[in-house]
Amino acid sequence: MLPMIYIIYLGPLLVSTSVLAVDTYRAAVYGHNVTFIADRSEIVSRKEALKVMMKNIAVYRQQALKASKMGAKLVVFPEYGLCGVEWNRTTFEPYLEEIVPVTVERWNPCTHPEKVNNTEIQSELSCLARNADIYVVANMGARQPCSPTDPSCPDDGHYQHSANVVYAPNGDFIARYFKYNLYWYENYLDKPKQVDITTFTTPFGRFGTMASNDILFHDPIIQLVHGMNITNIVYPNSWINNLPLYGAIEFHSAFAEGLLINLLSANLQMPSKGYYGSGLYWPSGTSINASYKNDADPRSGGVLVVETMTPFIVTNEDHWSLPSQTTNGITNIHDDDDEDIYIDINGDKYTIKLVFDSYGDIQVCQNTLCCSASYESQMERGDLFVIGAFDGIHNIGERYYLQACIFIKCVGDTKLSCGLPTSKSRINMSKMSFVGNFTTPYVYPEVLTDQDGSLGIVTTVWLYQGSIIIDAGLYGGTIAISMIGRDYSRDP
Ligand SMILES: *[C@@H]1O[C@H](CO)[C@@H](O)[C@H](O)[C@H]1NC(C)=O
Ligand SMILES: *[C@@H]1O[C@H](CO)[C@@H](O)[C@H](O)[C@H]1NC(C)=O
Ligand SMILES: *[C@@H]1O[C@H](CO)[C@@H](O)[C@H](O)[C@H]1NC(C)=O
Ligand SMILES: *[C@@H]1O[C@H](CO)[C@@H](O)[C@H](O)[C@H]1NC(C)=O
Ligand SMILES: *[C@@H]1O[C@H](CO)[C@@H](O)[C@H](O)[C@H]1NC(C)=O
Ligand SMILES: *[C@@H]1O[C@H](CO)[C@@H](O)[C@H](O)[C@H]1NC(C)=O
Ligand SMILES: *[C@@H]1O[C@H](CO)[C@@H](O)[C@H](O)[C@H]1NC(C)=O
Repeated sequence: MLPMIYIIYLGPLLVSTSVLAVDTYRAAVYGHNVTFIADRSEIVSRKEALKVMMKNIAVYRQQALKASKMGAKLVVFPEYGLCGVEWNRTTFEPYLEEIVPVTVERWNPCTHPEKVNNTEIQSELSCLARNADIYVVANMGARQPCSPTDPSCPDDGHYQHSANVVYAPNGDFIARYFKYNLYWYENYLDKPKQVDITTFTTPFGRFGTMASNDILFHDPIIQLVHGMNITNIVYPNSWINNLPLYGAIEFHSAFAEGLLINLLSANLQMPSKGYYGSGLYWPSGTSINASYKNDADPRSGGVLVVETMTPFIVTNEDHWSLPSQTTNGITNIHDDDDEDIYIDINGDKYTIKLVFDSYGDIQVCQNTLCCSASYESQMERGDLFVIGAFDGIHNIGERYYLQACIFIKCVGDTKLSCGLPTSKSRINMSKMSFVGNFTTPYVYPEVLTDQDGSLGIVTTVWLYQGSIIIDAGLYGGTIAISMIGRDYSRDP
């Protein structure tokens, strides 16, 4: 392979920078180690369910106060943070409350708990917001009665939802969102008939909200961001890390960068079940900036992240002038080894090429997607990466149209070891230009490295302008440099 490295000087070529209306403010997310009953096949009483949830509320109260003392204006708690995970429709029921719609005439469940019956949890959440003088975003189970005349009303006479609820610093109930895109295992929940577009306004900006699996689909998130110009998204989630491409910090940071939004992501902190990684992510002009915790140690407890988000965006009118070879993307690299090889990641069959030279130009295609990398690294004999392309419908669990260009570290030195999760790499990527000719503008760029033995995302030192550009090295050993594209228009 011929060495064809384009040396790219970026800084001096940036013509102008402008700041778009992405808000700056101080916020917090809490990764919570939820207390829940050991035997989830047991049907508990409402009283017992409340007792368990109150233990979690007590932790929320402390953390909301702590966040407020540290100057945060808003705090986000994770999905299922009050009751835990792994339910069926009956065992989940004692944890639920009816959540009435938000009305113009505000309801304050702390000062007026009697206004709606059986709303102990809502009242506690409202009080802890009021007590700590902070906006609180939490997630809880909702039980919404329906009439037998409603043809889709379930046999048990109510709908069950995963609900995000938001309280103002005086305790007023200001927003309610029912999760629209359910995980395949959430068969104890009902999918709302219509997508719920929920926003709320604070003195420091307008916010939208979604939960967990919503991040993979068009509605409500793309409607909020591109239909309504919302650039702050509060995101309670229960995200099981799925490396090498869908680690929580990895994919959530990529999403914030791809959409140029502030993303406030609170995950459960239960590493023994695969849940960890919470953070605040915001665009930094070049790439992503973030403050996050990614503690995979099973002995780790809850994690509070408090930070002032200072987003800035380079608009499309500004030019990063790049050599033409890299701006127009796909070069005509002649391919002499025709035989395609594949690896499987998440049930998606990627067309790949093995990468073992310390520098080079390499391209791989699947269907109409071609992914090309020019790179310079400190790879040595025995080190192995793959470059891969996937263009088609993801079919496992949920179904959606995925286009992805990936450049990932293999665990060992054989093809069979590629695509498996690893957190070990000592290979420095000095320069790279990584492009794909996606059919969608919705491309989420992620850069994950081994940072002294723990996984971390790389912030601010690389660039994303339709392609990933690394000009001055990354910190940490490269694990994954990928662009996850979602062509929502081709979803099944
Ligand atoms: C849920 O589990 C409980 C206890 O294991 C069982 O009694 C109940 O029938 C189950 N409900 C559903 C809807 O599967
Ligand atoms: C609350 O429940 C009590 C007892 O069942 C009932 O008398 C009252 O009307 C209910 N209040 C509201 C607001 O629904
Ligand atoms: C979104 O922002 C753009 C550019 O600032 C503006 O032209 C458009 O009217 C806005 N749309 C909405 C729904 O606010
Ligand atoms: C996490 O929560 C569980 C259940 O309450 C508890 O047994 C465990 O000790 C907690 N872990 C840490 C590190 O706090
Ligand atoms: C990253 O964020 C921190 C905290 O807001 C800020 O101090 C720092 O200047 C930011 N860096 C860049 C390059 O935007
Ligand atoms: C991407 O580039 C390849 C190679 O040049 C080309 O065959 C393919 O049609 C392109 N795809 C799109 C969507 O333009
Ligand atoms: C990685 O490479 C860059 C550019 O050559 C260099 O500045 C940086 O110090 C290197 N980092 C490590 C950990 O070797």
